[in-house]
Amino acid sequence: ATILVIHGPNLNMLGRREPHLYGTTTLADINTALQQRGAEAGVQIICIQSNHEGELVDAIQRHGWDAQGIIINPGALTHYGLSLRDALAMLATPIIEVHLSNVYQREAFRHTSVIAPIARGQITGLGWRGYLLALEWLLAELRNT
Ligand code: DQA
Repeated sequence: ATILVIHGPNLNMLGRREPHLYGTTTLADINTALQQRGAEAGVQIICIQSNHEGELVDAIQRHGWDAQGIIINPGALTHYGLSLRDALAMLATPIIEVHLSNVYQREAFRHTSVIAPIARGQITGLGWRGYLLALEWLLAELRNT
C-alpha cells in the first residue's frame, strides 16, 4: 500500500518558521518519522512539499490514484485553495487534514477550510505528532480492509 503525504506552502521552513506556533521540528524530521512508521508497517510513504498550488495539483494527479490514503497539511491553501480541493475531491481515498497549530485559536481567516468538507477528518493543534496520529489511523483502516 502507498500513503501520500502532502505539505503546502512555507512548510519547508519548519524549524525556523514561527517556532512558537509551529514548533522546532523540521519537515525532514517529520518525513523521516512518517517513513520509519510506514516501513515498520510495510507501507510506502511518498512525501511531497511545494510552495506552488499547481505543483501540488500535479503531484495529486500523479500519485493520488494509487494511494490508499492521503495526509495533507495545505498550509495557507487550506483557506482558499480551490484547485487543490478539486484535485483531492475526485479521489475516493480517505484524506486527513493536518495542522500543526490549532487554527481555531488563531485569526478568523484560519477558521475556514475549503479542504475540510472533502476530508475524512481533521487534526489541528497537536504539532508534528498530528501527522503520526493521522498515519496511525490510516494504517488501522488499512488493516480492516
Ligand atoms: C498551518 C495553519 C495555516 O493557517 C497556515 O497558513 C500554515 C500552517 C498549520 O499547520 O498550523 O501554513 O496549516
